[in-house]
Amino acid sequence: MKKDLVTLNDITLEDLHVIYDLAEKLKRDRGSVPYSPLAGKSIGLIFAKSSTRTRVSFEVGVHELGGNPLYLDAGKMQVGRGETVADTANVLSRYLHGIVIRTFAHADVEELARVATIPVINALTDDYHPCQILADLLTIKEHSGRYADSSIKMAFYGDGRSNICNSLILAAKLTGMQLVIAAPEQERPHEHLFAGCSNIRWEADPVKAAKDVDYFYTDVWVSMGFEEERERRMQIFRPYQINEKLFDVAKKDAKFLHCLPAHRGEEVSAGVMDDPKRSIVFDEAENRLHVQKAVMSLLMK
Ligand code: CP
Ligand code: NVA
Repeated sequence: MKKDLVTLNDITLEDLHVIYDLAEKLKRDRGSVPYSPLAGKSIGLIFAKSSTRTRVSFEVGVHELGGNPLYLDAGKMQVGRGETVADTANVLSRYLHGIVIRTFAHADVEELARVATIPVINALTDDYHPCQILADLLTIKEHSGRYADSSIKMAFYGDGRSNICNSLILAAKLTGMQLVIAAPEQERPHEHLFAGCSNIRWEADPVKAAKDVDYFYTDVWVSMGFEEERERRMQIFRPYQINEKLFDVAKKDAKFLHCLPAHRGEEVSAGVMDDPKRSIVFDEAENRLHVQKAVMSLLMK
């Protein structure tokens, strides 16, 4: 594996299978088999944006691997007062054994990873959220009984340029999974990300996109940092809500995925979100912990 996980372009299909094998073992063994690859190590968790799942799953994950998690509020660090990302990377490399970072500009994480001599894991930027999508693929494996491949069809609805959608595109490139992105023209996906990939396409018609779908996936309509665009976004994404009607067009046992937090009545209807036969969002959230423990073990031990 490479030193860092900045986007899913950093891992190969072989790496992905190694991550899943370990994540599944760690999930099975949790609480019964001791495993402390991070003993004596400290991992910095830098957050410049809000978080529930990512912060808690990384803090608990580092602790369960025997390490010391250090939560660092980016707003209280000197980087928030003008110290450069490169100087921060140099300094933290002298104290820590790994960095997990959630921030705004993707270029800052690229710079941090380039300069730091310790592994850097992207815990969400404006452009990518690789840890989330690793957990999603593990969830698909659990529910479909096989690794995501060309036999799996996913339809993503809503913000075609969100960090989640961008990362799903990279996941579909990696695995060959079929991905249809149902999004309005104004926020259609970045086509350069999937140029030449016959398994990935944009579809403006939300009903057409649902045909034969195994997994529906959506994300918030207003991502962190985009709050000023709220009104415009509520209007353009309205036709792309995932609701019961779309399930009529999909495969019979289609499932619903969401990175969370969810907004019932916006990107998903309450009926779908809370339907235990369709919604697997809490399995998905749980898998963040197991997958990230696997990634940290592989990169930081
Ligand atoms: N899905 C996700 O990353 O959730 P948080 O923003 O709560 O970390
Ligand atoms: N696209 C969302 C994902 C939250 C996990 C955001 O960036 O706010």
